[in-house]
Amino acid sequence: MKTRITELLGIKHPIVQGGMHYVGFAELAAAVSNAGGLGIITALTQRTPELLAAEIGKCRSMTDKPFGVNLTFLPSVTPPDYPGYVKAIIEGGVKIVETAGNNPQKWLPALKDAGIKVIHKCTSVRHALKAEAIGVDALSIDGFECGGHPGEDDVPNFILLPRAAEELKIPFVASGGMADGRSLVAAMALGAEGMNMGTRFIATKEAPVHDNVKAAIVAASELDTRLVMRPLRNTERVLTNAGVERLLAKEKELGSTITFNDIASEVAGIYPRVMKGGEMEAGAWSCGMVAGLIKDVPTVKELIDRIMNEARTIIREKLENALADAAA
Ligand SMILES: Cc1cc2nc3c(=O)[nH]c(=O)nc-3n(C[C@H](O)[C@H](O)[C@H](O)COP(=O)(O)O)c2cc1C
Repeated sequence: MKTRITELLGIKHPIVQGGMHYVGFAELAAAVSNAGGLGIITALTQRTPELLAAEIGKCRSMTDKPFGVNLTFLPSVTPPDYPGYVKAIIEGGVKIVETAGNNPQKWLPALKDAGIKVIHKCTSVRHALKAEAIGVDALSIDGFECGGHPGEDDVPNFILLPRAAEELKIPFVASGGMADGRSLVAAMALGAEGMNMGTRFIATKEAPVHDNVKAAIVAASELDTRLVMRPLRNTERVLTNAGVERLLAKEKELGSTITFNDIASEVAGIYPRVMKGGEMEAGAWSCGMVAGLIKDVPTVKELIDRIMNEARTIIREKLENALADAAA
């Protein structure tokens, strides 16, 4: 498939793997890129810029295809060493960066001077327009269904994507709730030029996470996610478990007086325990409603080939046939 996204990023299929904390390591990013999509390493999972540089080098040794790095701007009193991470990305010769979490304006001149294409991920049309105005190359539009941070507007992709298409000039991928060929064709019909997947890529053979995590996603239905940290306006969609239910009870009890410190034990430092240790009840970890559509753990290549075949079949048979029948 050829779209403005495949042309911009130099990839075969219009499928991007979104940055994911403690999941987006070189193994997964390289597998996605080798299968013709765009794999993305998550910068902040690497504790230091030096470790990120090593992870970029590792990914390069595993694929000769383009891959990217995700740079998430967190609401934080003591921010991570962003200048160091940006330097590691530039010196590592990475040509695509996914920014998320906040306005990337401060970092654009350095990234652009290095010939890096920037995809900014955001959850509203107004933030997308702002990112377009400051000069990002493409957008990843994350609907309310998404795993991770859906923002505070709660607009699902059936509305958000066509609204984005009405307003934007630069290309965008649809993110949130994407799982298969149906998702890709629907996303393109709604105005996107490809799709970004998070949760679906965790349940693959190459995702370097504990098997318990993959099993939990396969077992989950579309009813099993919860929204946590709403009262802090830092909403995160997570898979429910005992830790999450404790957190929600605390949020209810404390109401508007709640602070981050009240819930830190259920959210801080949870990712390595879940993703590496397989402690499924440890606390809150991001997961999309799309878990309800995930029934297996294929290799990344099997998944991407299946998506592309399914998309072709829907377009050539189902949609073409519907038109032919209408003409008859
Ligand atoms: C476990 C997990 C961790 C994530 N971590 C990040 C992150 O660190 N930075 C980021 O920009 N997005 C992060 N995301 C969001 C994904 O990149 C992507 O936007 C989202 O998963 C899309 O929704 P989906 O899960 O329905 O496919 C994460 C998602 C998951 C499921």
